[in-house]
Amino acid sequence: MDQNSKIAVVGSGYVGLVAAVCFAEMGHTVICVDNDDRKVAALQGGDTLIHENHLPELLERYRNTKIRFMTDLGEATRECDAIFIAVGTPQSEAGDADLSYVEAVACEIARSITSYKVIVEKSTVPVYTNEWVRRAIERNGVDRTLFDVVSNPEFLREGTAVADFLHPDRIVVGSDSERASALLKDIYAPLTDGEYYKRPDAIEGHCSSTEPPLLLLTSTKSAEIIKHASNAFLALKISFINAVSNLCEAADANVEQVALGMGLDSRIGPKFLRPGIGYGGSCFPKDVAAFRSVAEQMGIDFNLLSEVEKINVQQKKRFLAKVRSALWTLRTKRIGVLGLAFKGETDDIRESPAIDLVEMLLAEGCSVTAFDPAAMKRAQEALPASDRLRYAGSAYEAAEDADALLILTDWPEFASLDLEQLNKIMRYPIIIDGRNLYDPNVAAQHGFTYLSIGRPA
Ligand code: UGA
Repeated sequence: MDQNSKIAVVGSGYVGLVAAVCFAEMGHTVICVDNDDRKVAALQGGDTLIHENHLPELLERYRNTKIRFMTDLGEATRECDAIFIAVGTPQSEAGDADLSYVEAVACEIARSITSYKVIVEKSTVPVYTNEWVRRAIERNGVDRTLFDVVSNPEFLREGTAVADFLHPDRIVVGSDSERASALLKDIYAPLTDGEYYKRPDAIEGHCSSTEPPLLLLTSTKSAEIIKHASNAFLALKISFINAVSNLCEAADANVEQVALGMGLDSRIGPKFLRPGIGYGGSCFPKDVAAFRSVAEQMGIDFNLLSEVEKINVQQKKRFLAKVRSALWTLRTKRIGVLGLAFKGETDDIRESPAIDLVEMLLAEGCSVTAFDPAAMKRAQEALPASDRLRYAGSAYEAAEDADALLILTDWPEFASLDLEQLNKIMRYPIIIDGRNLYDPNVAAQHGFTYLSIGRPA
């Protein structure tokens, strides 16, 4: 077994950079390629570019030894056995995935293939992409015997990306070639044979399982569908519990109790049943739309996914209605906002429901003072400048003189605020919690009018 493969990772975004650093941590020699020379220079200088646990320490450990950064994809292709494509697949105007970056990379790789290579799709791509990549490489004159294309989707979450990569629930390899499957098995061997976990300095995972992950071999098309179907199913779970939370509000029931009662059924499971202000991020919204579009193109009615999206949009509007129900009119009200990132432990604001809500509040004529532990810079770049929008240096500063405090992101530090102090500094003691971080009884004991999602006030 070759414990040390030579791997190229194309793209230094979330998936690419985390994969590159983790492959180095697993003992491989890695070249991470990006066509943005400023990004490459920053990474060479030790800047991780994204806020992610363990990334700085791993980058520091392997930079210039096991991992190199460059812009030259040709050189990386020539040097490496496996080339992982981890470039963006943004949503096109029609809702499907824009694969032009993947195609461009495939064509560029083709120009440098002189010996056998395995090209690996790591980006989230629709079914059949594998075939298109293969055709693109062949059209560029590469003999079919000189390469294989496999699908190896990634299931990491932002915020816990490094731990998720090294402790996956499963590793999916979609391959129609034994030679390519064997190389992928070698690459993941440190995880699947459990050797990595025996290391005293191994990064710890977030799940309780002590078993090494299973490597599931499938056809390339099945692997492509597994990724889209998994994300769409998780989004569906969230929309489902959000719809149930609305029913709970109407019936004066408690969604936390309902989710607990449902989740104890091992067929359902407790995860991804946290109600809130809707899912966001760079994956779920894009992938649900792309999966629906793939189905549509194949003549399959997958209307269920449109309902998932509809509930997700409504959830933000319902939250705004809740703010209105607490404050009566909104114009000129001073609102403190806690959280701008699409979820806690990340600085990512892409498709963040918190950002949408800040925009909605501004459109209603409110003055907003917002705080986020990591996403302020990105939010400042994304939100329009306004004299009614201020950024605070702490959660307490955001709450000062506020008519109401909104909790929009589930940062752990927002769950342990000093309620007594908050009550003293706010104009009115009103908390509207879009993430259910507090026990309503405790909030009430501290004198707060406390509204949350799917729980009796
Ligand atoms: C998601 C998937 O969880 C990963 O498995 C996948 O690899 C990744 O997309 C991707 O395709 O790259 P991520 O977008 O980082 O990961 O974030 P999640 O932790 O899944 O959260 C997504 C959104 O759902 C957040 O806005 C979060 O607040 C929301 N959410 C999550 C809920 O509202 N309720 C929940 O119970 C769980």
